[in-house]
Amino acid sequence: MTTLIDGIGLLYTGDPECEEITDAALVIEDGLVAWTGPAAQAPDADERVHVGGRAVLPGFVDSHAHLIFAGDRTAEFQARMSGESYTGGGIRTTVAATRAASDADLATRARSLVEEMLAQGTTTVEIKSGYGLSTEHERRSLEIATTLTDETTYLGAHVVPAGVDADDYVRLVAGEMLEACAPYAKWVDVFCERGAFDGDQTREILNAGIKAGLQARVHANQLTEGPGVRIACELGAASADHCTHLSAADVDALAGGETVATLLPGAEFSTRSPYPDARRLIDAGATVALATDCNPGSSFTSSMPFCVALAVREMGMTPLEAVRAATYGGARALRRTDVGWLRRGARADLVVLDAPSYVHLAYRPGVPLVHQVFQAGLLL
Ligand code: NIG
Ligand code: FE
Repeated sequence: MTTLIDGIGLLYTGDPECEEITDAALVIEDGLVAWTGPAAQAPDADERVHVGGRAVLPGFVDSHAHLIFAGDRTAEFQARMSGESYTGGGIRTTVAATRAASDADLATRARSLVEEMLAQGTTTVEIKSGYGLSTEHERRSLEIATTLTDETTYLGAHVVPAGVDADDYVRLVAGEMLEACAPYAKWVDVFCERGAFDGDQTREILNAGIKAGLQARVHANQLTEGPGVRIACELGAASADHCTHLSAADVDALAGGETVATLLPGAEFSTRSPYPDARRLIDAGATVALATDCNPGSSFTSSMPFCVALAVREMGMTPLEAVRAATYGGARALRRTDVGWLRRGARADLVVLDAPSYVHLAYRPGVPLVHQVFQAGLLL
């Protein structure tokens, strides 16, 4: 069964070899991209969908989201908008609400966020634990996450839970809790930050995770210029996330290595913090991804289009760079080659915009421009 999508005004393929095609078409076969090129050269297909000159791009790859939680932190947000600063201390509020929630409640909330994301063009999402902070609650958070995505991340090292000794907790996270969680996780992550986990603790937990068969990613340099980025690069992490406060050596390490710099502008928006300097990273040669960081504390947005708009307006990215970071960049940050671009053999995840160009994602912020979403070739 083949489907020809034609009448594409502008196709952003995300494939560095041929990134944009005007007056384009695309053929889907068995859920995969079988052909892309100028509409005039399109092959025949079993069925045809005409998109009326609209722009098409790959489904967004949201490589950083915390979707397993209960409760709400509206009051904390309001206090911040009146001048309070974000410290991460509110994480414990969400931990209490998450522990009190049933499995069914957590699953329903997470599923509705994934659906919200899909409606906004996100066809691949990473989901972290991190609001359980005990062996039982981290394990069940990850088990629920596995029902929604293959990209699951063990974040037992989010903060030290109230009333627990930090050294005891690091031992638990790198020992018994890891053992219980590893079967449900692809990734291990640590919030490396003053008030969360220091450099030595971060190394210990990431190394234990790697030994257990997980791959590393790090919450790094969000609130202060700490050792997170350096450790991520040293340990060959797929991604260093946040990257808001970087030294020249951090930028060099990201530019010279394989670790993607994942930028999360929803967090800066929602915490009134300075945005990361994407221009500096891109000019140095780093691979940049954009993700939502969707969570009830620092960034309660599920919208990749919103993040693209912020990246263009606030972070010195061109619309092309921002769209690339939200698709191809996200896929690199998850070490995936089957998503994030529309080249032959990739999964046919596509977003049809009610606009002639992807530029409108930034040019028309806040406007629901996603017209249609295909996931693995199926129109949702
Ligand atoms: O990535 N910074 C650490 N973790 C989340 C926020 C979690 C929260 O405040 O609930 C983040 O921004
Ligand atoms: Fe995060």
